[in-house]
Amino acid sequence: MTLDNVLSKLWELYTSQNESARKVYELFTSEGETVINDHIAFRTFDNPKINVDSLGKIFTDLGYREMGQYDFPEKKLNAKHYEYSGNENMPLIFISELRTSEFSDFLQAIVHDSVQKIGRALIESGEILYSGNIWGKPSHTVYQNLLKESEYAAWLYYNGFCANHFTVSVNHLKKYDSLEKVNHLLKDKGFKLNDSGGEIKGNPSEYLEQSSIKADIISGDFVEGEFEITGCYYEFAKRYETTSGELFKGFIAKSADKIFESTNKG
Ligand code: NI
Repeated sequence: MTLDNVLSKLWELYTSQNESARKVYELFTSEGETVINDHIAFRTFDNPKINVDSLGKIFTDLGYREMGQYDFPEKKLNAKHYEYSGNENMPLIFISELRTSEFSDFLQAIVHDSVQKIGRALIESGEILYSGNIWGKPSHTVYQNLLKESEYAAWLYYNGFCANHFTVSVNHLKKYDSLEKVNHLLKDKGFKLNDSGGEIKGNPSEYLEQSSIKADIISGDFVEGEFEITGCYYEFAKRYETTSGELFKGFIAKSADKIFESTNKG
């Protein structure tokens, strides 16, 4: 399996399941822009079988290097980011994991049972990254109970493994070279921005600004029937040069904390 292969499978799944993401991509290309991805983000649980290091290994085997580490105390998440050296246009990879031991016995039991159902081969081949929900048809009752504790856990329980978001690199856009311009265009075309913590998270002095559209509401297929839930979302990032003159390649936990809320419903 090659990196191009993994990235195109992820993109295929992401755009087939999230209409807004596909429309945003088409909007920018119809405006004459070339869409380069700044980063791709994944969500997982901290069970060693599928934790950040386990998924991260798939990327390090493909030529990525582990770089920054992050802590999100409010959401109870750890995260790491990975960089690919040698090709500036390769997206950064951002993987977060839920610290399940900080949640109820109920949540921990659901995660334990779900993870047990994952075959080793799926992890070893790397195909897990775009395999979606691999623990069987979800229960809406379980989903609702998880939602009370952690939106992240509920989202992951339903959606499973996929790109939680792709991120347009605003640095690579010609006409829409600021987040203000990008956000204005998006709102003009009827997309809803995540405004938790303000439409633009971060600022040039932190070397990173980000915004995102709200995740699509999709019809979820549960054991009990169909219910509305949230899917994935599209994000936008503008990076600035640090004092060394190089573009900042990390993430800002304070900003990302609010970006996680892009999959909150409503
Ligand atoms: Ni992101």
